[in-house]
Amino acid sequence: MVTGGNGFVGGYLVESLVADGYAVRALARPGADTQRLERIATVVRGDLSDVDALERAATGCSRVFHVAAVTSTSARSKREYEATNVAGPANVAIAAARAGVERLVHVSSCGVYGFRCPSPADESAPLAPDTPYRRSKAGGERAVMAAAERSGLAVVIARLSSVYGPRARNWVRICRTIQEGRFRMIGDSRNRVHLVHVDDIVAGLRACADTPGIEGRPFNLAGPAPISMGELVDTLSRALEVESNRARWPAFPFRFARLFDLTAAHTIGHRPRRLGSYDLFLADRCFDITQARIELGYQPRVSAEEGMARLALHYRAEGLLRPD
Ligand SMILES: NC(=O)c1ccc[n+]([C@@H]2O[C@H](COP(=O)([O-])OP(=O)(O)OC[C@H]3O[C@@H](n4cnc5c(N)ncnc54)[C@H](OP(=O)(O)O)[C@@H]3O)[C@@H](O)[C@H]2O)c1
Repeated sequence: MVTGGNGFVGGYLVESLVADGYAVRALARPGADTQRLERIATVVRGDLSDVDALERAATGCSRVFHVAAVTSTSARSKREYEATNVAGPANVAIAAARAGVERLVHVSSCGVYGFRCPSPADESAPLAPDTPYRRSKAGGERAVMAAAERSGLAVVIARLSSVYGPRARNWVRICRTIQEGRFRMIGDSRNRVHLVHVDDIVAGLRACADTPGIEGRPFNLAGPAPISMGELVDTLSRALEVESNRARWPAFPFRFARLFDLTAAHTIGHRPRRLGSYDLFLADRCFDITQARIELGYQPRVSAEEGMARLALHYRAEGLLRPD
């Protein structure tokens, strides 16, 4: 059973499981457009607040992948973060335990280590979430583990770094600004980011579901290697067949804007809109995947060069970028 099967990561996960012959149940919210999903999986309608629907969806399944969440771009309020990303995982764990599921893979985020995390951060790094989204993902981990402890359910936590791939729409904007020559770097471009292609994430999630003896533990899942922002923009420019633009903004106004945004989020509940994109330029955020490599046999294969080339091809084919 997969929650969030109608979303970006969940959609690719469902396709991979179906391709290997699994019969998949996918939870989708009432009213969601599930035409694509229905062609390959059994869709069960329900919300993460509905434990009975979750139990119906999980009954008869050996594994549950809890992928659904509201993200920094989709959540409308602090209450929605709480209900979906904290109470939601607890409900999924309760339902999975009632349904007799063998293992729950809970999808979390390397964002739980926060903006100023040790770099690279391994799984023992302290959780220091600093945005409403990151706090909700850390809260979700605690909630799912507490519910699992009460019921004896086996849980594995997958902490994903920033995921990209053809159906992710959050890279369209930067691709367009680069293609149209409007891109400007923020800061000195030397900070490193650690992206991961969705194909590698799907392999990692499946290893979390199938590797024996890893219950109760978190695993970082990130790409083969970190890359500096300068290299990333050069890589995207090559994929888009344009000259890399060297124009820059200084970092300090963006650091200030980030701080202002976060303070407003803490005090008046304003929803920070641009933190994800600022963070990409302002901090070194890399993740240690040694534990996943050794214990899960996780081997991320898609390099930034290959992944960004595929992304550009797909965006062009979809008409999201100029064809030339
Ligand atoms: N993408 C990344 O870079 C990234 C990085 C780190 C961690 N993650 C984690 O990976 C997971 C998947 O992210 P994604 O990028 O695939 O997000 P996504 O494309 O926005 O998909 C999220 C899915 O969750 C579903 N959902 C949201 N609220 C729900 C609720 N109340 N009840 C039932 N379903 C609900 C959505 O359903 P609808 O289709 O009905 O809206 C959607 O299918 C999340 O847990 C996210 O925190 C993602």
